[in-house]
Parts: sequence; C-alpha cells; structure tokens
Amino acid sequence: MTQYFFEKPGHAALYQKYRLPSPNEINDLILNYLQTKKGKPFTLAVDVGCGSGQSTRGLTSYFEEVVGIDISEAQIEEAKKMERSDNVSYRQGLAEELGFQDGSVDLVTVGAAAQWFDLEKFMKEIDRVLKPKGCLALYCYTVPCILNFDDCSETLTQIIQDLFTELKPYETIATKRVWNEYRDLFDAIPFPDKARAKDIFITFKKPVSWFIGYLNSSVLFQTYLREKLEDAKAFMENTEQRLLKAMGVSSEAIVEFRTKYYCLLASKPE
Ligand SMILES: C[S@@+](CC[C@H](N)C(=O)[O-])C[C@H]1O[C@@H](n2cnc3c(N)ncnc32)[C@H](O)[C@@H]1O
Repeated sequence: MTQYFFEKPGHAALYQKYRLPSPNEINDLILNYLQTKKGKPFTLAVDVGCGSGQSTRGLTSYFEEVVGIDISEAQIEEAKKMERSDNVSYRQGLAEELGFQDGSVDLVTVGAAAQWFDLEKFMKEIDRVLKPKGCLALYCYTVPCILNFDDCSETLTQIIQDLFTELKPYETIATKRVWNEYRDLFDAIPFPDKARAKDIFITFKKPVSWFIGYLNSSVLFQTYLREKLEDAKAFMENTEQRLLKAMGVSSEAIVEFRTKYYCLLASKPE
C-alpha cells in the first residue's frame, strides 16, 4: 500500500505552497485527548507522513521534542527549509518502521497520510513505540469541499464536484479510505479505548488562484497530470475559468471554502 507520490520535488514544493497547516481545532482536540488519557509530561510527539511540515509545526509549543517523519525525501527537504523551531527535527522514514525505542513516544499524529500505510504493520509499530496511555491520532478531511461566494455557492460547489468526477478514474484504495472517513482504519486500531470525532467543519478564506493551486497539489490531480498532461492542464484551466465566470471576479478575489475534517483517537492500555 505504501506509495511514493511525493517523490518529485515539484510536487513537494507545490504542497509546501498550497497546503494549509493542520487546523487549531484539530490540534486542540488531540491535545485535550492526550491530556485526559495520559496527562503530562508531554515529552515526545511524532508526526508520521508529515509532508512538508504543515501538520508538524502546530505541535512544537506543547512538546519537549517533535519529530516529523515522511517516506519522501523531497517533502522532508521542504519541511526542513521552512522550519523555525529548535525542538523539531525531520527525517525520511517509513510509517511502518518508525525506529523509536519501545514505549518512548507520548503521541503519534498522522494528518491526511494514514490512508497510504500498510495498516497491519503500522498498528504493530504504534503499539510498540507508544508509552502506556500514550495516544494515536489519525485525521483527514474529505474533498470536494463547499465553496461560498455571494449567491453563487451552489454553482461553485458543483464546479468542484465536476472536477472530482473527472478525477474518479484515478481513485485508489487510499482515496476510498478517505471517502469512507477511515472506517477500516478505525477497525485496525488495536486498542480498545478508541473514539471517532466527525463532522468538524473548518472554514478557510483564500484567493481563487490559491484555491486552484490547492486543487493542483492533490495527489489525484497530480496522477491525472502524469497520465494525461494536456487533458489535465486544460481541465484545470477550464475549472478556473468557470469559477471566475460564475463569481464575476478576477483570480485574486477571496473565496471562502468549508472542509469537513474527521479524527480517530486512541489510547494504548496501561
Ligand atoms: C497528503 S500528505 C500529508 C502531509 C501532512 N501530514 C499534511 O497534513 O499536510 C501525505 C504524506 O504521507 C507520506 N507517506 C505516504 N506513505 C507513507 C509511509 N508509508 N510512510 C511515511 N510517509 C508516507 C507522503 O510522502 C506524503 O508526504
């Protein structure tokens, strides 16, 4: 199941530019859970599938040490370039072989990445590295999202739906895991103490041009580009034109979009 989607530096750079930090609402949810289940001290957090560090940075003020791990060297390079905190390090590595000592980690987080993991091996590794009462948090979001602008929100949301219909042939088992909100990942968590937080709607405001970059950086669209370069480029250009026409604005106009997050939480037995 492990996939090397982000190997190309171009994709990692796009990711750095167009992906959002993990929302505070998600970080708060995870930290409150850890506080309730295990409590302080918060010594070591590991962010697996950290990408270019968007999901890692929000943890730095709460832990003595944070480590971001990703299979992609290009993503790790991007993460290192942007890092400003001195209690964070990044390294290339596999989710299924984290390399920490037994019972040494307080919290493992995975943002929008666990759908690609070999679940059996990953869960064994989590059971090994977590401290007793240590926690695991797997979160993700579903696209397409809802776009809001004046009175044309329905049209805009439909345009995004059309894009995802076009991308349907490139869906994989990983995409299906995201669509079904990590149902099989929940079942694979080996700890009896587990919970699911769903329907966490987060609103972002960004220029239309940024939103197009965000769509471009998705693995599904990058797969379309790799397989049918000209078709993919034309489709995205057309999507942008349709959005701008419906809104009657230029590509720097701000659009609001709402994304639905969900999060699985679990605590290792004592
Ligand atoms: C969609 S990105 C998410 C990045 C970041 N966590 C975020 O929230 O924006 C998924 C990341 O998972 C990484 N990945 C996929 N399979 C992996 C594996 N088996 N071990 C480690 N990283 C993996 C990819 O290289 C990619 O950087």
